[in-house]
Amino acid sequence: MAIDAFMKPSILVARAVFPQILTLLEPHFEVTSNQDDTLWTPAQLIDKLQGKQGVFTTGSERIDAALLAACPDLKICANMAVGYNNFDLQAMTAAGIKATNTPDVLTETTADFGFALLMATARRMAESERFLRAGLWNRWRYDMFAGSDIHGSTLGILGMGRIGQAIAKRGAHGFGMKVIYHNRSRLDVATELNCGATWVSKPDLLQQADHLILVLPYSAEARHAIGAAELAQMKPSATLVNIARGGIVDDAALAAALKQGVIAAAGLDVFEGEPAVHPDLLTVPNVVLTPHIASATMPTRLAMAQLAADNLIGFLKHGKAVTPLN
Ligand code: GLV
Repeated sequence: MAIDAFMKPSILVARAVFPQILTLLEPHFEVTSNQDDTLWTPAQLIDKLQGKQGVFTTGSERIDAALLAACPDLKICANMAVGYNNFDLQAMTAAGIKATNTPDVLTETTADFGFALLMATARRMAESERFLRAGLWNRWRYDMFAGSDIHGSTLGILGMGRIGQAIAKRGAHGFGMKVIYHNRSRLDVATELNCGATWVSKPDLLQQADHLILVLPYSAEARHAIGAAELAQMKPSATLVNIARGGIVDDAALAAALKQGVIAAAGLDVFEGEPAVHPDLLTVPNVVLTPHIASATMPTRLAMAQLAADNLIGFLKHGKAVTPLN
């Protein structure tokens, strides 16, 4: 459908969003929204996208070649997430569809959460709270919920993009940690100094870290980057934190490793096949589980939604997306 110069483009907001974001979009577009947050099947999403030039997605809606072929009017998919493994970017680029994400606005909030999850895990906060709530606390004991220290320990970071760097700064400058990282490309010396972080090989990272945080983007190569073989290389006292994406850790192997004491504890915000969680993870005590909330503060979620909206407005109204991926 050709867009008449005087016609507003039509867009679909595929999930519930802040009402003020709809108010922001409505002067520019004919907006169809999903404020009751129905989880559409791929076929329903295709149906809703007919005649739409733009779509506001979250990390949950799969945009692939089959969907693009069935939605000939679509020009842009604006993800309200920094991660975009729900996009087949190659197919989108081949079809001439603009893809955007929401970098930067969530970096510090997500780094805060990485640290929160690390501390909750290493200091056994969830496990000890469950104990207290169950009415089992009847005395002080010298080793009760004794965990491991954060300050002065070695923090390993796998993936050293913006969020990894923000975590490194917290560790090195806030908690006096020795920070080591592994990333396909090494940071320049000035950035390493600023983050207080040193590049090491992946085996060295696994073997030396007291606490290992995963912050790498999902890709086919990153699938099961941490599995049984990698867990076996870690210290038995180590903690593992995944705030990156489900599937980077082999969750079944991790549950087995936690049960067998291969590592001490894990904190997980993302899961293979989420919102489903591997049943074995639900039965091990030494794991802290959160439902993919690393960027979830109200100001940051609002900034992410605003940026996704700005990408739609920028691209469909002015021909230029703010944070394009292709
Ligand atoms: C959250 O996981 C995001 O990618 O923004």
